[in-house]
Amino acid sequence: MVALSDKEVTKAQHVEEVILSHLQTHEEIVNSGEFAKANGLEHDLLLSVVQSLHGFNYVEAQDIKKEAWVLTEEGNSYATLGSPEVQVFKAIPLEGISREDLQKKLDVSVFKIGFAKAMGNKWLETKPLVSRKVSNVEDQVQQQLVHIRNGQDLAAADIDALKKRKLIIPLIWKGYSIRKGTSYAPKRTKAATDLTREVLQRGTWKDLVFKDYNYNALGQPTEGGHLHPLLKVRAQFREIFLEMGFEEMPTNNFIESSFWNFDALFQPQQHPARDSHDTFFLQVPEKAQFLPEDYLQRVKEIHEHGGYGSIGYGYNWKREDAEKNVLRTHTTAVSSRMLYKLAQDGFTPKRYFSIDRVFRNEAVDRTHLAEFHQIEGVVCDRGLTLGDLIGVLNEFFSRLGIRKLRFKPAYNPYTEPSMEIFSYHDTLKKWVEVGNSGMFRPEMLLPMGLPEDVSVIAWGLSLERPTMILYGIDNIRDLFGHKVDLKLIKSNPICRLGMR
Ligand code: PHE
Repeated sequence: MVALSDKEVTKAQHVEEVILSHLQTHEEIVNSGEFAKANGLEHDLLLSVVQSLHGFNYVEAQDIKKEAWVLTEEGNSYATLGSPEVQVFKAIPLEGISREDLQKKLDVSVFKIGFAKAMGNKWLETKPLVSRKVSNVEDQVQQQLVHIRNGQDLAAADIDALKKRKLIIPLIWKGYSIRKGTSYAPKRTKAATDLTREVLQRGTWKDLVFKDYNYNALGQPTEGGHLHPLLKVRAQFREIFLEMGFEEMPTNNFIESSFWNFDALFQPQQHPARDSHDTFFLQVPEKAQFLPEDYLQRVKEIHEHGGYGSIGYGYNWKREDAEKNVLRTHTTAVSSRMLYKLAQDGFTPKRYFSIDRVFRNEAVDRTHLAEFHQIEGVVCDRGLTLGDLIGVLNEFFSRLGIRKLRFKPAYNPYTEPSMEIFSYHDTLKKWVEVGNSGMFRPEMLLPMGLPEDVSVIAWGLSLERPTMILYGIDNIRDLFGHKVDLKLIKSNPICRLGMR
């Protein structure tokens, strides 16, 4: 309903009073249109007042529908100036006129239509000059049009003819016949909506008319918290990991030492990923203070000279490089801390997962930001093989609804073998990369102190990629960062990932 201005409200009140007081002495208002005309009221306003009175049962209203005719613009002009055929007839002087001169005297369309009609009516002679064949004509078309303009009826055949000439068009007229309703009163009392303390104290509640409850009314929209699509998808991934018996790793440190982020993962210090082009280094605090000394020595040893059957990288390992603080470039830094801790606590088989932010010094474009969320799964047990990794990945991805997987050999400094994971995308109709995986190297696990027969399989993927696909977002800046439209966060569908 459109809110009415004060002026409209008083006008509506006036209409209401006229209707109600009329019904006090009359059985019925037969036709709202005629009633409006007789009382100088606007019919449209009267209709809406009747609807409101009807809603409160002050009146009963019965629909009346009538097909009426109204003049088109052309019809209107003929009603005023005469039909074109008569205009043509009248323009012909008694002595006759050449066709050219007649044409000049008249409007182009009037001449064209009128001349043809007048000829059809056999009113004209054309040779040698255009002249009148009859002495007098009656403009029936004009008379009919005037009738219609005055709201009078015409014979069906006449209506048909005018309609064919597009001089009139139909108009559905709607109105009401109105009688007293079950709650009729000569004046409307405003229904009370609340039972207040005052009303109870004064006892006036006895005389009040209360408005009925509207059980269909909707409540106020709630302005609570809203979950970002990334959080919804993350919750679903978390659910899947928990269902598969994984424990969540503590990932609440965005700052990590190069030691845990790279060195512990057997990533050599000259590796290009450790360059400032790829990694954000911290200026304050620039260096990590607490590193486990004896483990650090074993890591240095394996990088420089190898061990446990490995020949290492054969370079001078520098403690200063390991101490450099970075914004972690992957959550695998947390996995390395957890595996080291597991070795210290005494090994038992474990399944770990994490979903949190990582940072890379990358050029920003529509699919890359300098930060994203990484989803990581890690399984450690005795005697695990590549077959176990493939099995776990099939299970994990099938819970996401992804069943067709392919694996491609890849390289990571900390895994061997390593595999990129591809899945067949049914709408894109091609294989797309969905993650990276591998078996952690003995060069990483053995210096930690894990038993020799323990293998660790692990995989990682981004949270943004599936979220963008699921929510149909093709520019990552529409999903994350300062350009995100808040509307997206306030209203987005539930995440159906993993729901079966
Ligand atoms: N850390 C890898 C990456 O950033 C993901 C990964 C995790 C790969 C565990 C293998 C094993 O892409």
